[in-house]
Amino acid sequence: MDQPASVAADPHDAAHLPVLLNEVMAGLAIRPGAWLIDGTLGGGGHTGPMLVESAPDGRVLGIDGDPTAIRRITTKFGPEIASGRLIAVHGNFVDLEKIAQQQHFAAVDGILLDLGVSSFQLQTPDRGFSFSQDGPLDMRFDPTQGLSAAEIVNTWLEEELADLIYQYGEEIKSRRIARYLVAHRPFVTTTKLAQAVETAVGGRRGSRIHPATRTFQALRIAVNQELTHLEQVLPQALNLLKPGGRLAVISFHSLEDRIVKQWMQREASAYVPDKANLYGGHQRTPTLTIMTPKPLTATEQEVAFNPRSRSAKLRIAERPIPLDD
Ligand SMILES: C[S@@+](CC[C@H](N)C(=O)[O-])C[C@H]1O[C@@H](n2cnc3c(N)ncnc32)[C@H](O)[C@@H]1O
Repeated sequence: MDQPASVAADPHDAAHLPVLLNEVMAGLAIRPGAWLIDGTLGGGGHTGPMLVESAPDGRVLGIDGDPTAIRRITTKFGPEIASGRLIAVHGNFVDLEKIAQQQHFAAVDGILLDLGVSSFQLQTPDRGFSFSQDGPLDMRFDPTQGLSAAEIVNTWLEEELADLIYQYGEEIKSRRIARYLVAHRPFVTTTKLAQAVETAVGGRRGSRIHPATRTFQALRIAVNQELTHLEQVLPQALNLLKPGGRLAVISFHSLEDRIVKQWMQREASAYVPDKANLYGGHQRTPTLTIMTPKPLTATEQEVAFNPRSRSAKLRIAERPIPLDD
C-alpha cells in the first residue's frame, strides 16, 4: 500500500474523530470525479474528505440507520447536499444495493463501511449505548425500529441470554451473568444493568476494562443484528464496485473482523473447495484482490489522540480489472 496522504480531520468535529482517516483515504485511492458510497455516515468524518478528494464533480452516497446522524449531516453538509454531490439516506446498509439503485449509483469507485457505534451515539445517554452515563437500555442505531436492549434483557430465556453474551460478547462468565440478570430483572437503565453484571461476576478484580463491557457489546450486536447485516452487505458491496473499485471496512472487534477477513479471503481465492467432497473443488477467477494482507491499525499517535481507534482494524480489497479490458 502507498504511504497514506495526510488528510486533516475537521477540528469542528471534536465529538467524533474519524478513525484511520489517512489510511482509508490512501486505501480508497480516490480520484476527481469518483462515485463513492459511505455506508456508515456517522458524523461524516470520512465523508468530508471523500467529497474533497472526489471534487469537483465526484459524488458520495451516504447511508446511516440513525435518523439523528442524517439530521446532523444535512446541516453540516448543506451546500454539498444542495449541489447534489452528497446524498444522505436514512436506511440500513443491509439494503445497500436497493438504496444504491434508488439513488442511481452503480459501478462505484469506492465503498467504506466504518462499523459500529459513533462517539455521538456513545456520548448521548438517551441512546443507552454506554454505562458510563445513566440512560434507558436501548442501544438501537435506529430507535424507530426493532427490539431494544431492555426487551432482550427482560424477556429472553436465561439460556438464550447466556448464549448471546457468550457468542457476541466472548464472555466466559456468561452463564453466571445470565442467571443473575434473570433473577434480578427487570432492568430499565444502563447503569443498573452494568452494576448487576459487575455483582454477578464478583466485582472488578483489578481488571482495566469494566466487567459489563462484553455484555454491553453482546447486547448491542444482537439489538442491531450487526453480524448478520455485515455478512449480507459484503457481497452487495462487491456487486456495486466497478472493476478497479475498492472496498474498505473498519471493524472494532474480532467477531466483525473475522467475517470481513474470511469473506475477502474466499472472494480472493482462485480455488473453490467442494463441500461434499474433501478432495474436490474447482478453479475460478478471483472476484477480489486483497490490498491489506494484514489489517491496518492505528498508529500510537492516533491512539493517544483518539482512544476509540485502539481496536480498529482496516481491511481493503479491490475488484480486479479483467485481463482483456
Ligand atoms: C463508527 S460510526 C461512523 C463514523 C463515521 N465514519 C465518521 O467518521 O464520522 C458508525 C455509524 O454507522 C451507523 N451504522 C451502524 N450499522 C449500520 C447499518 N447496518 N446500517 C446503517 N448505518 C449503520 C451507526 O448509526 C453510526 O452512525
